[in-house]
Amino acid sequence: MALLEWSKDYDTHIRVIDTDHQNLFDAINTLHDAHLANKGRERIGSVIETLRHYVVEHFEREEHFLEQAGYPDFVAHCAAHRDFSQLTDSLVTLYQQNPDLVDISKVIDFLGHWLTEHILKTDMQYVPYMRGEKQGIPREQPDQAKEQNEAYLTFTVPRDKADVITSFVDTVIGGDHAAESFEKAFRAAQEQLNQSKLARARKLFGLE
Ligand SMILES: [Fe+2]
Repeated sequence: MALLEWSKDYDTHIRVIDTDHQNLFDAINTLHDAHLANKGRERIGSVIETLRHYVVEHFEREEHFLEQAGYPDFVAHCAAHRDFSQLTDSLVTLYQQNPDLVDISKVIDFLGHWLTEHILKTDMQYVPYMRGEKQGIPREQPDQAKEQNEAYLTFTVPRDKADVITSFVDTVIGGDHAAESFEKAFRAAQEQLNQSKLARARKLFGLE
């Protein structure tokens, strides 16, 4: 019997989303089967990478729909996605570094629990907005990038972080000496952050 069984409780009745969610169920079940059948590290490693790939693709798709629908809880929903994405990224890195130190049973429990809870408690909240039963907040459409070397980014940020994010962007694109050292310091801090993300994944998925 599969570990995760699909039931109508998980149906959002939005076909693309339900198909994505079912694919994620399948990917976790595949990992479970591969683990039970004692498939080699290579097979398990590739199942984990496929799963991460599906996660990234699905979140992108879902967030695009949420933005289109003007979903009021967009920022918090994306933050939950980001947190899970970072964990799956760290999982892939940990497994590549040393598969013997990763407890696949813990991984399966965590992924299955997170996904089912997320669908039932978090995703279900956006359904009326996506189905047009509730009115979302209209959002600005991004313009085309003027030049090929320009990327036109558009994203929603928490209101109380808007100032700091704007001045960060202004500083980085300033292109002067200050911008250079600022970017360098930021990348160093980012590296530290990556290390602490890995430490978190090690705590969650590592063998005692
Ligand atoms: Fe979601």
